[in-house]
Amino acid sequence: MKLARRFLKFAQLWDTFRHDRSSSLKGQTARDALVQTAHRIEKGLTIRNPRRLWGWDKIARLATLLEKELSMPNPDRFALETGASVLKAYLEAKKSTGDREETERAAKLLDKTPRIREWMGTVTATGGARHLTAQEVAVPDGLEWARKFFSTRHSVRDFADRPIPRETLLQAVQLALMCPSACNRQPFKVYVLEGKRREEAGYENIYHADKYLVVTGEINAFSAEEYGDWIVSATIFATYLVLALHALGIGSCMKKKELHFASKYNDFLRETCHIPKNEKIVLEIAAGHCKDEFSVACSNRKRAEDVVVFP
Ligand SMILES: Cc1cc2nc3c(=O)[nH]c(=O)nc-3n(C[C@H](O)[C@H](O)[C@H](O)COP(=O)(O)O)c2cc1C
Repeated sequence: MKLARRFLKFAQLWDTFRHDRSSSLKGQTARDALVQTAHRIEKGLTIRNPRRLWGWDKIARLATLLEKELSMPNPDRFALETGASVLKAYLEAKKSTGDREETERAAKLLDKTPRIREWMGTVTATGGARHLTAQEVAVPDGLEWARKFFSTRHSVRDFADRPIPRETLLQAVQLALMCPSACNRQPFKVYVLEGKRREEAGYENIYHADKYLVVTGEINAFSAEEYGDWIVSATIFATYLVLALHALGIGSCMKKKELHFASKYNDFLRETCHIPKNEKIVLEIAAGHCKDEFSVACSNRKRAEDVVVFP
């Protein structure tokens, strides 16, 4: 019996892996390749003493990807503005080097691509490098602030019976979008499921959460070599989202999902939220207002010395 169950699990895992693999092997979307390439250039603009003539190969790829996106019936606005703003910043940086070859290349680049030149003129987003000072990024009373902020976030499992306004959720997501993600592709989505809908479908809502936020990772944001990276970026985003909700006074509790095995509940989420096949359900976050009084698990913590290794 045990062996049969193990075999079934293995078969499910294999099936899921084949599905993920076939989705990701369809390849990275042109839109994500554009954002990734733009970001690789953007990163180059922030390092100390970059080598002479760096980045021209990537810029050629960026220009090709921009052309391709511009010729699509429904071009992706975010990818286009990201690509164009970075291209603009790169060319300006090269022109300011004083190096003749760099300057000439920068001046000529757009000659053959009038469509990109025209599009670049309309872009208001800023791309490239931002100059900062240590003082600007310092958080006043940072340690005290962080202690209070982190230590007051708890996984809440008994929410108040009060709806979270849509505006608050959007604000939280906007804040969470400040999180790091692989080459800034932001390969995730959040589907908002009403707690009541979950119940209507026969699934318990034992925490009385107003909403369930289903966080997915986009498989096709990544090339085949990056297989599985959607989990990392989506999880980091989910963590920021929980913290952003906390900043806005909303309690939450992350709930793990079957990542690699089929589950009826995941099928329900896919169907109800219209989650496409190229997205993987990574986590679910129960969310709601905190009651005036409620209990949380103590969840004892390890000490830093227990988890840090100085080899
Ligand atoms: C990936 C992940 C999955 C979790 N799954 C569940 C879950 O299914 N049910 C639940 O009640 N809590 C779940 N939690 C919450 C943890 O139990 C909780 O974060 C941990 O005990 C620390 O407590 P705190 O969040 O209150 O600080 C999950 C947390 C994470 C990060």
